[in-house]
Amino acid sequence: MLQEISHALGLIMGEDLILGIESSCDDTAVALVTRDGEVVSALTQSQVRIHAEWGGVFPELASRAHAAEIIPTIKAVMAEADIGPERVKAIAVTRGPGLIGPLMVGVNSATGLGMAWQKPVIGVNHLRGHLRSAALEGGKVKYPALVLLVSGGHTLLALMENADSVRILGASRDDSVGEAYDKTARLLGLGFPGGPEIDKLAKLGEPSIEFPRPMLREGLEFSFSGLKAAVARCVERAPNVDPANVAASFVAAVLDVLSSKCASALSETNARSLVVVGGVAASAQVRQRMSEVAASSGAELALPPLKWSTDNGAMIALAGWDYFVAGRNPALRPVARLSIQEF
Ligand code: KG4
Ligand code: ZN
Repeated sequence: MLQEISHALGLIMGEDLILGIESSCDDTAVALVTRDGEVVSALTQSQVRIHAEWGGVFPELASRAHAAEIIPTIKAVMAEADIGPERVKAIAVTRGPGLIGPLMVGVNSATGLGMAWQKPVIGVNHLRGHLRSAALEGGKVKYPALVLLVSGGHTLLALMENADSVRILGASRDDSVGEAYDKTARLLGLGFPGGPEIDKLAKLGEPSIEFPRPMLREGLEFSFSGLKAAVARCVERAPNVDPANVAASFVAAVLDVLSSKCASALSETNARSLVVVGGVAASAQVRQRMSEVAASSGAELALPPLKWSTDNGAMIALAGWDYFVAGRNPALRPVARLSIQEF
């Protein structure tokens, strides 16, 4: 309720907005966001149905779907907010990392729009967007912050002294957590994307299978390919195993690894908060376990609202605000690979 009032006031007072555009993978997402991270309007067109039959994202089909959806999505977001381009201070668009074709569609559309509206266009690092997602809609992040990024493409722990500086403490040597969820789902014959399916199924099972906890006591690096291989062996050897027990045991292993690394990192650093972002942060089980880790370490937990955990335009818009205020404007060229330390 309060949020709704602040939206309305913001609009009446003519608060500036940034239009955020995200198209790095399989979501065409657009949002209008204030400097404070209030989301005035937002829309995400998911391509799940297009990619489901392939069991993963088909890059060429993703590019075509983005090309078809991006302008209607922008128009719908502007119409929902009932504003014209004069209220838009800048356009922020994901420049990478991601699939090059889909990124190209976003960057080209933003460039065209910038010319038509006479607005600056800012290329944003998608990972920096995820980092800022915890500050959307009233979220507070206390620095120094320990960040756990768990998405489809990345798994890493980083220490942020402030909203700009990112020091990587550890990352996955192979699969990301999201990939491990997706591959485990495929092994169990579940739908795509697998993360939410595993998350749901795990709640119905018992963690009765002893899967490995890779690199549990070995610093802050991660490895998840061994866990995936163990799930594959289990399903192969015992085809009648209860899938819910496999899912619950897999999740238990993942949570043990994530919580142990976060607890170690919190005790080794002076972090005041634990920030958990990325698609896997949409999991209720991950959120619950991380809140326990934060509580026992005396750190504050900062999580993005559920709908801004997976890819979205609002996080790109809020990161775009930071770039805009700092006068930061990296070359507007899509890049498939981009480190979280870059802008
Ligand atoms: O951040 P994201 O939307 O896209 C990337 O930047 O990669 O993350 C997508 C990943 C996928 O692996 C998906 O299966 C996983 O996040 N995911 C989940 C849940 N929702 C999405 N994993 C576990 N539980 C969920 N509820
Ligand atoms: Zn993402």
